[in-house]
Amino acid sequence: MACAHQWLVQTGDPAFSIDASNLVFGRGALAEVGDHTRASASSAKRVALFTDPVVAALEHVAVAQRSLEAAGFDVAVYRDVAVEPTDASFLAAARFAREGRFDAYVSVGGGSVIDTCKAAILYATYPADFLTYVNEPVGAGEAVPGPLPPHVACPTTCGTGSETTGIAVCDVLALEAKTGIASRRLRPSLALVDPTCTSTLPSSVVAASGFDVLCHALESYTARPHRARPRPDRPSARPMSQGSNPWSDVGSLEALRLGGLYLERAVRDASDVEAREQLAWAASLAGIAFGNAGVHLPHGMAYAVAGLVKDFHMPGYPGNAQTAPLVPHGVSVVLNAPSVFRFTASACPDRHVEGAKRLGADVRGAADGAEAGEVLAAALERLMRATGIPHGLSAIGYRESDVDALVRGTIVQTRLLDNAPIATAEPELATLFRGALTFTSADTTPEGIREEERR
Ligand SMILES: [Fe+2]
Repeated sequence: MACAHQWLVQTGDPAFSIDASNLVFGRGALAEVGDHTRASASSAKRVALFTDPVVAALEHVAVAQRSLEAAGFDVAVYRDVAVEPTDASFLAAARFAREGRFDAYVSVGGGSVIDTCKAAILYATYPADFLTYVNEPVGAGEAVPGPLPPHVACPTTCGTGSETTGIAVCDVLALEAKTGIASRRLRPSLALVDPTCTSTLPSSVVAASGFDVLCHALESYTARPHRARPRPDRPSARPMSQGSNPWSDVGSLEALRLGGLYLERAVRDASDVEAREQLAWAASLAGIAFGNAGVHLPHGMAYAVAGLVKDFHMPGYPGNAQTAPLVPHGVSVVLNAPSVFRFTASACPDRHVEGAKRLGADVRGAADGAEAGEVLAAALERLMRATGIPHGLSAIGYRESDVDALVRGTIVQTRLLDNAPIATAEPELATLFRGALTFTSADTTPEGIREEERR
């Protein structure tokens, strides 16, 4: 379904580019990693296997290492990936990569692991000051100079989609800014998705990463249409965040349909193999979609939400006792989403209604901007209530007095703000953050209805 204005804009970029990911998906696929790595690097001898301390203790890394060794590789394991990567942790990983003189790379873990592996490969192959390749305006945004060695990315969560994108996100500590590096050359040469890796994930992790999936899909689908984005100077300079396009729409809509059907089941029951597998497939589809369309306001606002939190740990999240206050990425994104979609619906109401419908909402009567935004916001808030997500930014400690700081932390995310379907400056961001402090739709869960009747 097209935005009403998508086909009317004549001054923008009439074409769109698709960078398809190479993907292997299926139960048990992780054990194939050795053969796939050999196929993409036939003469390679040394392989670096990236992971983090938590995943390193699981069977997944041993499975990957055995498979790589059976394929004849000399494997060196890097276990020190930081959960929320920083410029410092990226550069530490790059030192390991440079000193090891590896021919190929494999990452096994969540988005932090895969992003760190991307950055390590980049800085080991083309050494430079850290900010050289970092997105403007935080960094210089210079292009990656040339091709990178093979990287087989094996996700063990079902959300970030990092295995299918050319984006690596990190905190730049000295600047207190969350930003990243975006280049087609960073996209892993193969995404190897084994949904059985998600069977041991706690429900809180599945909930958080599941909403990351839904937001990747919803933001790609409602992004500024590619025809409304200015033409690049050269066609080859077309950005990956090129706006909504027919290719990304296909993956986004199917990911939303699967999320509507399976997210609650996957959160509720770790033994629900079908639900966790379908959610992993939705994550891959949404990753491919946003890798070619780009996300917008909920993700742009999330960097500030995650970066400025003072005292929050997600109930039931692993490692709580060991970590500083932490808002899981998917939570920091989706808490902004209802407020954002109430705002953006006027740009393309039909897409907001379709998104709500795919999530399972009753959309009868929702046609214009206000109703379209509300039906999508309410669908998200209902799902969040059903899966244990905090009820708004106030539930993770934010107050009205924090809005200015949240806006300042968001306004630098120009790549994401530019991809929104409506121009958004400081005043609009302040309104969006205020709207995200609490849930405003009716609580239609049984508990919510009982609470309403008690009043
Ligand atoms: Fe995300």
